[in-house]
Amino acid sequence: MNGRPLLVTCGLPYTNGRCHLGHLRTYVPADFYVRYLRRAGEDVVFICGSDNHGTPIVVSAEDEKIHPRELSLRYHRHFEDTFRRLNIIFDHFGMTDGETNHRRTRSIVQTLIERGYVYRKTVQQSYCLKCRRFLPDRYVEGICPYCGTGARGDECDQGCGRHLEPGEIRAPRCSVCGEPAELREQEHFFFRLSNFRDFLLEYLEDLKGTVIARNYAIGWVKEGLRDWCITRTLDWGVKFPEHEDLVVYVWVDAPVGYISFTEEWAEAHGKDWRSYWCGEIVPVTHFIGSDIIYHHTIFWPAMLKGAGYGLPEAIVASGMLKVNDQKFSKSRGYVVWTNEDYLDLGLPPDYLRYYLLSYTSHTRELNFSWKMFQERVNNEIVGTLGNFIYRSLYFTSKFFGAIPAVAPEQEIMDQISRCMDEVDGKVREFEFKGAVDAMMALAAFGNTYIQGNAPWKLVKEDRATSERVVVNCLQIVKALALMMEPVMPDSAQKIWYMLGESGYVGDHPLSEALVPPAPRALDTPSPPFVKLDDDRVKELESTLERRIGEARRKEQGKQVVSPEEFRRLDIRTGRIVAVDAIKGSKKLLRLSVDIGGEMRTVVAGIAEFYPPEELRGRDVAIIVNLKPVKLFGVESQGMILAAGDQASLLVPLRKVEPGTKIR
Ligand code: 2FM
Ligand code: ZN
Repeated sequence: MNGRPLLVTCGLPYTNGRCHLGHLRTYVPADFYVRYLRRAGEDVVFICGSDNHGTPIVVSAEDEKIHPRELSLRYHRHFEDTFRRLNIIFDHFGMTDGETNHRRTRSIVQTLIERGYVYRKTVQQSYCLKCRRFLPDRYVEGICPYCGTGARGDECDQGCGRHLEPGEIRAPRCSVCGEPAELREQEHFFFRLSNFRDFLLEYLEDLKGTVIARNYAIGWVKEGLRDWCITRTLDWGVKFPEHEDLVVYVWVDAPVGYISFTEEWAEAHGKDWRSYWCGEIVPVTHFIGSDIIYHHTIFWPAMLKGAGYGLPEAIVASGMLKVNDQKFSKSRGYVVWTNEDYLDLGLPPDYLRYYLLSYTSHTRELNFSWKMFQERVNNEIVGTLGNFIYRSLYFTSKFFGAIPAVAPEQEIMDQISRCMDEVDGKVREFEFKGAVDAMMALAAFGNTYIQGNAPWKLVKEDRATSERVVVNCLQIVKALALMMEPVMPDSAQKIWYMLGESGYVGDHPLSEALVPPAPRALDTPSPPFVKLDDDRVKELESTLERRIGEARRKEQGKQVVSPEEFRRLDIRTGRIVAVDAIKGSKKLLRLSVDIGGEMRTVVAGIAEFYPPEELRGRDVAIIVNLKPVKLFGVESQGMILAAGDQASLLVPLRKVEPGTKIR
């Protein structure tokens, strides 16, 4: 083994939903990375587990009328099983509700308390009178105080993506019964995140991994850090020390899972977890989705530092996923389920792994469509890689029946060696696409080589040269099997056997790519890959389309309003008489609108689209009986109607008096 032991982790999936392509965008590259490093001789342990706490899980369990533990166990097994089917093989897959994690979390929180990093504070919390309970996180919906978008609980997931602290959300409503929530005082515990500013700036400067993770994080720290409420009024979770009525916020105990699962693995394997987690900078690389960079680059290192643990060396954030060019969305049907839509249909895990790794750079947005998937599979995997491997093996077996006992040429060895260097450099920069592209370039080189040298013709005139050509080809095939194993483990194994090798290809170091294949008898090979045919792709596309259509109809169904309901909205024409900027916001404008003898102040997110002079004197449509909300300290007493991303304002076609009712 080379150097020190390394630990690689993946973000922990929540146990309230099935595995989909969005998850795999992180897990497949992490698995690739671990497999590659091992093959390059590194000592790597690969750890993950399921994230069992937090309100989304409690809400889902309530819907199903089961205990959150039962729900968590079900999805825990689901993820474990799905990952195995995709050849994503963790050394340990723990549960954050496991005993080790309860113990480790409480010990870390206790240390933070003892070291003075935790204090009590009375805060205004949303409370639902009807359900008679406080509304932590996902139990509350409302408006993001930063960008004005509809937001849920603890994050503005449809708008600016910011983490929201309890009580911050504007116009809060209970997400269970839909009633407006009121604010009530409650005592909570806060972590002094703001104390960690200088520490974080220094730490982030040298943080390895993908630049987006580091740069976002530095930007956020510079914007200013607010202390972080770390308790919730819930039963399900890790109890806060000495307060049985409170649990810690899920983002405290979830990352602690990384440590606890290492402990569990170490215990089972006679190792010491401290060698991974104690010290200054520790050999830990976290693979995560880009939506949880904040939690991993800010909360987590501050907590580790505060409690005296070592700090992760690298954070690798993957870009987001699109399906058919649309933002991935389960509720809108833009989703591909790993089991139902892929594995259960007998589609090869290797094709999906290849697509996810090679579609684009790891940090960029990945667009999935069945059409593109088919093209990549048929042109690249089957056309380039499979074709070269099959031809090389086929001609050798047909004309010689065995691998000829001839040494491959140096030029070929050099070509392979250059490819290996390129792959190694790319993997270590977390440029997985670059690494896979370099492997495919070697296969393309092989294709050109075999075509140009035509061993099937040569064999009739010059058997010795023909032998040399096929040996050169088989050397490349062997190198490809070894190098491709982290991308396509099943196929690499198949090719390995077709070369007459034995054992598990993943047990062989990459360096064997430069060892000539032993001269041995070859069986007639079969094509290592098969094309995806058009009928299959049409079926896959129609499943997706059906789902999108159903989601649309469901949404429309939900949105049917009765004439009575419509009449409850008081929509009128209004004349904009004054337009002012709002301090601290680039997007919002403060409009004074005459609605017929009465002036209303309206905060509208249209500053980017209209200069003030274009707005003054305009007649617009305005809803005047919405509950007022405060945005950037300004009370908004109405809503101007606008259409589309560019906020095209709806204006009356003919002149009407301000305040005219819209019916
Ligand atoms: O965002 C999520 O899906 C979380 N369950 C990830 C947790 S990662 C870690 F910190 F535990
Ligand atoms: Zn927001």
